[in-house]
Amino acid sequence: MKLSMRHVITIQKNRFRQLKKNLRGLKKTALRNRKLISNEWWDSEFYIDSSLEDRKTIFNSCDAAAAAYHYASIELLISKYFFEQKISADGLKVLDIGSGSGHWLDFYESLGFGNMVGVDVSEKSIEHLRSKYKEDREKTFYKGTAKNYLMGRNDKFDVINAIGVMFHIVDDREWLETIKLFADHLTEDGVIVIGGFFGALNNIDVQFGADGSVNKRLRSAKNWKEKLSENGLKDIKLVKNVTSLEIDHVLPENNLIFARFSA
Ligand SMILES: C[S@@+](CC[C@H](N)C(=O)[O-])C[C@H]1O[C@@H](n2cnc3c(N)ncnc32)[C@H](O)[C@@H]1O
Repeated sequence: MKLSMRHVITIQKNRFRQLKKNLRGLKKTALRNRKLISNEWWDSEFYIDSSLEDRKTIFNSCDAAAAAYHYASIELLISKYFFEQKISADGLKVLDIGSGSGHWLDFYESLGFGNMVGVDVSEKSIEHLRSKYKEDREKTFYKGTAKNYLMGRNDKFDVINAIGVMFHIVDDREWLETIKLFADHLTEDGVIVIGGFFGALNNIDVQFGADGSVNKRLRSAKNWKEKLSENGLKDIKLVKNVTSLEIDHVLPENNLIFARFSA
């Protein structure tokens, strides 16, 4: 496909934006502000409106059409993967980590999944989800971290979905524990779907709260692949989201990793 000059410029502009953000992050990481966000940060500083909608899970003033574009670009890649892997939704269970406004619950429902658990540390998110799905008996919600939810349970999920969440688990130990818990709670044929950065740079802090505490830490593709394989995941596929670069709007890192125990 031949791209127009405008397209090429937009793609390069987005690449430059990401690079600038990462370089700024590198500098700040070198200075190492070790204070990390608390779980309360999401309700006190991030979800500042009383209402929640998809675009506000990106940032409060995010353009609605650009947000829809971001979600659609990820949906394309997940749909393609599920189609190619012949994953049929029949009777399968989904665990959605960091559900926010519930976009990914709606998406998996559109693929035919019914049985779902949504987990989020934000009270506002969980309140919103409980009200949005109040008639739906197949969806349940838990307020807390992924780690808190999974620790001590022994049930398993066929899909563990965490889009735009894992880079917000800034504490390295908790991040590692969460990956292990994902592996422990994944069925033999299940799939883990992670949305995020996965570039060359590792452990760079790129976003900070009002008091300077770190709220986003990017980990490299290499680090992700290592940690997933250490936990038994062998079929690991990294997919770059190229479509999302074609819109001139600041969007979160939205590449994908799909991980399964065997091919
Ligand atoms: C950027 S939003 C993404 C929301 C949603 N996944 C989406 O793509 O629309 C991140 C969400 O993850 C939640 N979150 C952050 N850390 C979490 C953790 N350790 N466990 C569960 N949820 C978390 C936040 O409260 C927030 O709703």
